Amino acid sequence: MDYIVIPIVLLIFLYSLKNILLNNVRHVDVEVEIDPEKSGEQDDGATVIRDFTPRELSNYNGFDLEKIYIAVKGNVYDVSKGRQFYGPSGPYSNFAGHDASRGLALNSFETEHVRGWNEPIDDLKDLTDIERESLDKWEGMFKGKYPCVGKLVADPDFTEKHV
Ligand code: HEM
Repeated sequence: MDYIVIPIVLLIFLYSLKNILLNNVRHVDVEVEIDPEKSGEQDDGATVIRDFTPRELSNYNGFDLEKIYIAVKGNVYDVSKGRQFYGPSGPYSNFAGHDASRGLALNSFETEHVRGWNEPIDDLKDLTDIERESLDKWEGMFKGKYPCVGKLVADPDFTEKHV
């Protein structure tokens, strides 16, 4: 009888050992194809990177839409988890749904330093080196803390009608 049981036990042992070893070393890198034309979030909740015009971005102010997005140096970040800062009653609510680049560079959250949805995208060309440095530091904070959900792009309709 032993001549049957011993090989079976040995096989089970080897099979379990293989599973344990492989599970510990398995890394799966998944590359996700992103279609910039598709909108914000899929049914499964996964984020899709897309383009936002200033007008579209302005909806994500934590009031009209619950999510809060902010643009910094051309990238759009989902800052919803910083609602205490950017939500309707937060100290930096002026940034919500807007390009905050100039405000961050100038260390100001005043509306005069935040572009409106109906203004051209700020090219930031007039910033001094110090302001640029300040903006770069803030950008590092946003990159580290919040997911990037897209790019800020000019509104073609707006450019045709108003410029
Ligand atoms: C009266 C002066 C100010 C005080 C006392 C103040 C205080 C604070 C505090 C306590 C935090 C949280 C820091 C942390 O989480 O570790 C913070 C974050 C922040 N502050 Fe201020 N702040 C002031 C002025 C400003 C100004 C003028 C700006 C405009 C650029 C600004 C923009 C921000 C931003 C963007 C954050 C990061 C929020 C985040 O984590 O998403 N603050 N501030």
